[in-house]
Parts: sequence; C-alpha cells; structure tokens
Amino acid sequence: MKDRIREILSSVPSEKTIKAEGWVRTKRDSKNVCFLEVNDGSVVKGLQVVIDKASFNNDDLLSQVTTGTAVECSGKLVKSQGGSQAVELALEDLKIVGTCPSDYPLQKKRHSIEFLREIAYLRPRTNLIGAVMRVRSTLSYAIHTFFQENGFYYVNTPLITTSDCEGAGETFQVTTLDLDNVPKTKDGSVDYDKDFFSKKASLTVSGQLEGETYALALKNIYTFGPTFRAENSNTTRHLAEFWMVEPEMAFCDLEGDEETAEAFLKYIFSYVLEKCPEEMEFFDNFVLKGNIETLRHVIDSPFARMTYTDAIKELEKVNSQFDFPVHWGSDIQTEHEKYLTEVVCKSPVIVTDYPKEIKAFYMKMNEDGKTVRGMDVLVPRLGEIIGGSEREADYDKLLGRINELGLNPKDYWWYLETRRFGSVPHSGFGLGFERAIQYVTGVANIRDVIPYPRYVRSADF
Ligand code: 4AD
Ligand code: MG
Repeated sequence: MKDRIREILSSVPSEKTIKAEGWVRTKRDSKNVCFLEVNDGSVVKGLQVVIDKASFNNDDLLSQVTTGTAVECSGKLVKSQGGSQAVELALEDLKIVGTCPSDYPLQKKRHSIEFLREIAYLRPRTNLIGAVMRVRSTLSYAIHTFFQENGFYYVNTPLITTSDCEGAGETFQVTTLDLDNVPKTKDGSVDYDKDFFSKKASLTVSGQLEGETYALALKNIYTFGPTFRAENSNTTRHLAEFWMVEPEMAFCDLEGDEETAEAFLKYIFSYVLEKCPEEMEFFDNFVLKGNIETLRHVIDSPFARMTYTDAIKELEKVNSQFDFPVHWGSDIQTEHEKYLTEVVCKSPVIVTDYPKEIKAFYMKMNEDGKTVRGMDVLVPRLGEIIGGSEREADYDKLLGRINELGLNPKDYWWYLETRRFGSVPHSGFGLGFERAIQYVTGVANIRDVIPYPRYVRSADF
C-alpha cells in the first residue's frame, strides 16, 4: 500500500523522491513560487507542496491546478521553512490525475453545515466532515475492542423481522406486494399470505430480542448494526436509520448493566482521545470549546445514579421552567434530561426504575408492581445516549405484560420460549452510535455525523 499523507507528514526529511496523492485544498501563487495544500482525507491539515516556478517551468500545467483538482506530486520531503508544519514537499514532478472545474462547490470560503448537507457526496472532503468520519471509524473500532477484550461475542441479528422489539409500532414495512393492487382476503384485510415472507414484515427497530436468545446461549454478546425507526421526530438527535450497539449479558442484573454501560462509555471516549488527538483538537477549536476537558472529566469521575422517582422530585421543584411540566408517571423529555444531567448532577447520570407505563414490555417488574428495572444514561447537551434494562425472565410475568399492552403473544412466541428453558436473569442496553459520535465531537446535529442521513421527508443520495 502507498503511503497516505498522514504517514508522509510524520516522516523525516530525506534525499529519496517520494510521491504524494490527494486533492488540492488551496493554491497560493506568487511570482517565483507556488504553494499547494494537498489533502487525501487522512489528516486535518494536509501536505504543503512547494513549487519553485523557475525550475518547474510549466506555467501551463500549473494553471490547470485549481481547488479540488486531484494530483500526484513527486519530490523530496524537506524541513519546512514556514512555521505551521514540520515538513513540506519540494516538488520535482506534478501529474494531474483529475481536473476540477471552477463550479466545484467546495471553494476556499467557509460553508454552512446546512449547505454541506445538500452536497453530502462531497462533504467528506471538508475538514469538519472528514474529521467526524475518521472519528466515527475509530469509535467503531473502540466499541469492538471493548467487547472483544471483555468476553463478548459479536452477533449479527436480522434486519428484517416480524416482531416489533419496542412494541411502539414505529416500523418501516417490508413488502413485495403490488401497492397499486394489494391482494385482499375475504374479510377485506391485506392478504399477507401472498407477500414475500407470507406474513407482515418490517425493518428492525432493535436487535435486542434476537440478541437475548444468543446471550442465553453464549453468555455475553453484542450486536452493532443499523436499526430503523419511522419516528416522526424532526430533531437534532433523531434519525430514521441509525446504528445501534446492543450488548446483552446472561446472569446479570440491572446493577451489572449499569456498571458495564459506564465502563464502556469511559473506554470508548478515552480511546478516541488517545487515537485521534488532531481531530479532537480541531473539534475543540472549531466546534465546541472545552469539549476535550469535559470528556476528560467524564472519564475520570463516577456517573451519578438516581431513581426515576427521585428524578421527578428534582424536576417538580422547577416545573414552571419547563414547556412540559412533569408529575410521577410522565415521560422524561429532552428538556428534563438536560436539566437533570446539566444542572442537578453536572455529570452523566443513570436514571433507573421507571413506571412500567412508559417503558417497553420486556423490562423486569420491580416488587412494587409499578416500576420496572429500566435505565437510561443521560449526558449533558444530548440527554439520553443509552437505554437499557434487566429483562423479565419469568414466563408468566412476561406473557402478562405482552397481553396487558395489547401486543400479540403469537408475534413473540419464540422469545417467550426462552423463559421456559433454563431462564436466567439477564440485562443489556443500546447505545445510539450517532449520539455517541455527537457527544465525542461536539457536533450539534445528528445529520452531520452519519454519511447519508435519513429522516422524515429526506432520503437523498
Ligand atoms: O432506548 P432505545 O429505544 O432502546 C432500545 O432500542 C433497546 N432495545 C436497547 C436495549 O436494551 N438493547 O434506544 C437505544 C438508544 C437510545 O438511547 C438512543 O441513543 C438511540 O438508541 N436512539 C436513536 N438514535 C438516533 N435516532 C433515533 N431515532 C433513535 N432512537 C433511539
Ligand atoms: Mg430509550
């Protein structure tokens, strides 16, 4: 493999002629010398290429080099004369690999993040999105490393399912039926027998249910894949297609789940700080001041813990400042999550033991018969980053909850069966991968931390 600009920039000057390939970010031309900044997307700041015009003597070729042009530069790596870089390339030979006309949208000026979203196929060539996507890649490696080194197996759960994991009905249907001519049964309902799977199917909202069956066989597992939600939420933290990391542990209660979630977040945050110092410094300078210090603080101090009931007591004290005042039983919304983590705890907080009415059917019931062993991990700025729970391991109680919520036990028959054959306490959680990237980078909108965002009324590219 050829060296990328990242490797070239960390090399020492030498008499050997080397080659650097990339796209021209900027060109500064004067009478005797021309400077190009060439970047191949492996670094925030690219390689400075210095062209001595007298010896290069090809003004015609040089005039075709514009912002966005793909080039191959040969020359010697020398100690830089300028202050802002250690080495630069003294050009000997230049090849244009791909020309770039002047209507290239990424000219030198700063572009708004909204404009960049409209040219999502080019935006990874900007410093910001390039850095975000490198961090995204590193974070994904950190996630695999944490689990692989702690005895978890990676399980690939299906993307097409016939059971709604969260029971919230926010699914995208998958069908090969002709929508202009839908086959009907005698009673007038859709004849799913004629559909591809002979039943109603959809894209998964979570791999948890299938993940549980594997934890009940391999002890500790995790999934990491795309999930889909037809939520009509037009916010800076919701996508219709997002990636979720879902560990599941057998013989583990809610306390064990909380411990794993805290250790996991701290591990992946430190990993990125260590492996992506240049990107993290860039975000700290241009996206969110003080972000690195905040992350260090989060890594070094224990997460707060609070029951839902105590959280409501705290929130009720300041109910008048919320758009949606709370009482025991109400859902905790983003404004409340932010208050709890930013004002009350001033750190990430794990809220536990929610009323059963506002949580999914699979969560283990507490002795009080009113609350369930669920947890949400809330962080400053974003609110919920992780949702998890201890699962109901008792067959009758689980069936009772499915019926109580008006779900069809037939859709969950195989899931229920695992509670008959050697059922054990088990727990897990889901981390929204894009929310983790938002948190680490400081990027405000979730649409800018995934290559091609999908949300209500938008599935371009
Ligand atoms: O809280 P949620 O809905 O939990 C589950 O799906 C469980 N099955 C997880 C489990 O216990 N295995 O979602 C988990 C996380 C949220 O905390 C949030 O970070 C993220 O997924 N998330 C979203 N991220 C982006 N866009 C959306 N529409 C999201 N919905 C949830
Ligand atoms: Mg949740």
